[in-house]
Amino acid sequence: MSTASAPGKIILFGEHAVVYGRPALAVPVTQVHTDVEITEGQGTGIRIDAPNIFLQTQLSALSSTNPLRSVIEKTLQTFSISASPALTIRILSTIPVASGLGSGAAVSVAIIRALAAHFGQAIDDERVNQLAYDVEKIHHGTPSGIDNTVITFAQPVYFVKEQPIETLQVLRPFTIVIADTGILAPTRESVGDVRKLWASNPKRWELVFDKIGEIARAARQAIQNGEWQAMGALMDTNQALLQEMTVSSPELDKLVVVAKTSGAEGAKLSGGGRGGNMIALVRPENAEKVAFALLDSGARQTIVTVVQ
Ligand code: MEV
Repeated sequence: MSTASAPGKIILFGEHAVVYGRPALAVPVTQVHTDVEITEGQGTGIRIDAPNIFLQTQLSALSSTNPLRSVIEKTLQTFSISASPALTIRILSTIPVASGLGSGAAVSVAIIRALAAHFGQAIDDERVNQLAYDVEKIHHGTPSGIDNTVITFAQPVYFVKEQPIETLQVLRPFTIVIADTGILAPTRESVGDVRKLWASNPKRWELVFDKIGEIARAARQAIQNGEWQAMGALMDTNQALLQEMTVSSPELDKLVVVAKTSGAEGAKLSGGGRGGNMIALVRPENAEKVAFALLDSGARQTIVTVVQ
């Protein structure tokens, strides 16, 4: 059996503006992950078994634009495997779907690496990242590539679209509480709506994206200088700009207020928004209290992660 695993991710700063070339910061979240196991199948063809999404099917029965079919076929093409091999690909994931935690990119990265292991193919991170990005385009339309990049490299990144990846040196670890609204985040739709806003008044929205880019740059400095507390106010300002961009939601706003009133240093949505997860920067000693308050106010699930 060949196996591979990929972590979840959160965007700390810069979602949406990153699609327009501004920098963004993202970190892996190892508490949630996608695991892929590949075994030799019987007969012919590839069988998919993904119990978390209640999917059990032959690959050939999926539509040709299905992201799972697409990632498997693109990977086999890369390895010059033309005949359909007899395989069972089992996908197990603890990353909630459509929650801003990168479930789609994690599935792609884990499948690419498990197929490479199964066929004894060496594949470097750049190639994994490119293949996963091609599939992200099916999920999200015009993705920046930040999700597949942070998940492929599994390290904190300072990301600028179409620029070489820059990993972040975290001088002092910091603690984030992640809370799920339980509402599916319609990333394709929110990215499309921001595009419409921008098209209706590019001058105004370019300025907003500039402000978000400045926040991401300031946050990088804070992280690299070990001044993590400075990120609290930056998160609050980033959240206000995301609200202006119409990508927050009453449920996200409520969790942000609860996080702040229960002791967080700053809080914001993370990812596409309008659902999915929010993140709160906390002093380590406050993490449990903030997580409890969020659960008490309707969060579906919380994760406490230490970025280092
Ligand atoms: C989604 O995780 C992040 C967005 O900025 C979209 C993207 O970067 O492709 C909303």
